[in-house]
Amino acid sequence: MEILRTVAELRNWSRAGRRAGSVIGLVPTMGALHAGHASLIRAAAASCDSVAVSIFVNPTQFGPNEDYARYPRTFEADCALAEAEGADMVFAPSLEELYPPGAATFVEVDGLSSRLDGASRPGHFRGVATVVAKLLIAAEPDHAFFGQKDAAQVAVLRRMAADLRLPTEIVVCPIVREPDGLALSSRNVYLSGEEREQALVLSRTIRQVEALAAAGERRAGTLIEAARRLFPAARSAFAAEPAICVDYIELVDWATLEPVETAASGTLFAVAAWIGTTRLIDNTVIA
Ligand code: PAJ
Repeated sequence: MEILRTVAELRNWSRAGRRAGSVIGLVPTMGALHAGHASLIRAAAASCDSVAVSIFVNPTQFGPNEDYARYPRTFEADCALAEAEGADMVFAPSLEELYPPGAATFVEVDGLSSRLDGASRPGHFRGVATVVAKLLIAAEPDHAFFGQKDAAQVAVLRRMAADLRLPTEIVVCPIVREPDGLALSSRNVYLSGEEREQALVLSRTIRQVEALAAAGERRAGTLIEAARRLFPAARSAFAAEPAICVDYIELVDWATLEPVETAASGTLFAVAAWIGTTRLIDNTVIA
């Protein structure tokens, strides 16, 4: 499996593949690859002739007090996993390669970018849209693969790809979970043993809402309230730092990320919570 470092090499790789008649797939990641990423690479390998996995911890999508510096970096193991799942190439650019000195160009997806995670992480989706635009423009893949795990990210990137008339199809793959329900995330390594148990509250809310929706409950307020009740009540201002803290629990239109009053098929139920100092997200799409 090849490892490429420059945008010019990525572009040449993709153009050579296309000239040879290959369908090109791209799986953008920040590394620290796990079974969730693996499922994306497998999906790409199943439907494309040439599969590139990009590995780049993108600084512009991290806030000033977030975990950019300590984000797990496991490049050797990532390359082994990518190759085992069927990747033909890993694109691992330097910071300067994707953000040349003086870089001043960003991609803003208005409105959507300040909803859900964008509300609590200002600038996050601007960074995501910018780096994914750079990757899609350089690689011109036929298909780019993303996880439903980051459902708001999917909404932002679908909007961006449509608005910029990019020729790439955005493919969304299901959430991969641990046997006990916890959605796989590169950030799960931050959790202590106790926090790992507490983190199950997120997937519990997902199952609760799925069960209520399957039983016919469609009122947003009722579904959200049922999910919120699974979280411990907020402590008084005098208590120690709460271990678990809800960031958002929302029922939204998956395309616009605007709240809805009534769940319909395709409506997104999404939750984000702090478990200690780790922020985790989870979601389900109403059947
Ligand atoms: P990262 O968090 O590394 O995730 C890369 C891709 O893997 C994303 O599309 C994400 O939704 C998917 N993924 C993560 N956990 C998953 C799970 N449990 N099941 C299924 N898919 C999962 O998302 C990013 O990186 C970045 O924002 C990126 C798009 C690469 C831009 O920097």
